[in-house]
Amino acid sequence: MDFGDAVGALVLAAGKGTRLKSETPKALVPLLEEPLLFYPQASLQVLGLARRAVVVGHQADRVRQVLACVDPEAVPMEQVELLGTGHAVQSCRSWWKELEHLLILPVDTPLLRPETLRLLLEEHLREDNGCTVLSFTPPDPKGYGRILRGARGVSIVEERDATAEQKAVGECNSGIYVFRVAALDAVLPRLGRENAQGEYYLTDVLSLLAQEGEKVGVRQADDDVEVFGINDPFQLAEATDHLRRRILFRWMGQGLKCVDPSSTWIGPRARFGADVWLEPHVQIWGASEVGAGSRVGSFSVLVDSTLGHGSVLLGPVRLQHSCLGAEVQVGPFAYLRDETVLADRVHVGRFVEIKRSSVGEGSKVPHLTYLGDATVGRGSNIGAGTITCNYDGVRKNPTVVGDGCFIGSDTMLVAPVEVGDGAATAAGSVITRDVPPGALGVGRTRQRNVEGWRDRPRRGEKGGQETCPQD
Ligand code: UD1
Ligand code: CA
Repeated sequence: MDFGDAVGALVLAAGKGTRLKSETPKALVPLLEEPLLFYPQASLQVLGLARRAVVVGHQADRVRQVLACVDPEAVPMEQVELLGTGHAVQSCRSWWKELEHLLILPVDTPLLRPETLRLLLEEHLREDNGCTVLSFTPPDPKGYGRILRGARGVSIVEERDATAEQKAVGECNSGIYVFRVAALDAVLPRLGRENAQGEYYLTDVLSLLAQEGEKVGVRQADDDVEVFGINDPFQLAEATDHLRRRILFRWMGQGLKCVDPSSTWIGPRARFGADVWLEPHVQIWGASEVGAGSRVGSFSVLVDSTLGHGSVLLGPVRLQHSCLGAEVQVGPFAYLRDETVLADRVHVGRFVEIKRSSVGEGSKVPHLTYLGDATVGRGSNIGAGTITCNYDGVRKNPTVVGDGCFIGSDTMLVAPVEVGDGAATAAGSVITRDVPPGALGVGRTRQRNVEGWRDRPRRGEKGGQETCPQD
């Protein structure tokens, strides 16, 4: 169903998240390396609800900044004083008053699937309700508002305000509702705050609607887990575990070979080509992508990085904001970061760090190397122990190595410096001046041998002298 422009969605994200005991506002608390705010916004986008707003309040500027990345099309609305969920909705009336229906959801139910929201919306429209609330029956209802179905219709009582008899009710409020805007607007100003928390509760709107003769529907969630709310560190851990397995199993269903699901972590934005293998203890976060037929070795971590098809990471390897071509081989013990780009068939080996550099097709960086702010051409070989001395204490300077170069072992490339196509450097050189194409750069002292040194008398011995004579 296309909900068009008449239905909008409002995410309540102004709260502090007091029970999480964190400096980070609840909307920004990370779950599988994404802020909680990411999850409702992603579901609403899948659902095709184009009109989206988020209520921000506690540390509003920080939340607004993250929202601009997570969902640039969503409108941030500020709740200046945090006086409860009803007050949060009222404080952005200017945004929703022109809509016909308003879907409201909290920022802290990341397991919710778009399909569940779709069914809720469809039922609401079909039944022509003033409000439709999504309920669920968790194994332990503690902390949730209870759904009461009385003679005068449906109402919700918060646990802190509930009688023992009301607390015995198992059906709970998910905090997810759809309202007909005209109905909501008529009763919202009448909310009071005579309750245990002294807040304007959105939940009280339901009994007010019933008094107005509006139809209030309750839709039961098919799966309790989906509306699991995160209020404390225990719930954060439980939700993380559920979501981790859901994401993993979805990819395994599409052919991902995950050798040890119990130790594998994949974020919600990661993507995989066909027949990828993940060894135990792999983490893949952010907008990372692993190409078809690639293998990611144990203890590797990918953050916002892509790996082309047919590639192998011999773990552990850390890729951060880097882009690797097809059929590359990297590791073990390599760290590639800050927009590093490896072209196809590049080989990066043991104990190598590459920062903000590009390495051309077929080039090799096999051992013990640091490349920073460097551009390496095609088919070049960077010898063991090569270091780009890219930082002069003030600035980062570039190093350029052309095509088909041979950089001798233990070369120090003191940037800014350029090694032309087909050029070489002698092992152990400190290269401070450009090396022209085809030339050999030698930057080291000439060796001299001290003949008969072993048999000379040593210091302390009769006639002895310096162990290593100066001339
Ligand atoms: C709320 C419901 C409860 C339901 C539960 C489901 C109310 C009064 N209670 O309780 O019936 O069972 O969700 O998880 O609604 N927020 C604001 N501004 C505020 C206060 C809260 O934006 O002034 C936001 C929070 O950031 C959060 C959402 O509203 O995303 C819900 O608030 P929270 O404090 O988590 O409510 P619960 O106690 O969980
Ligand atoms: Ca909550």
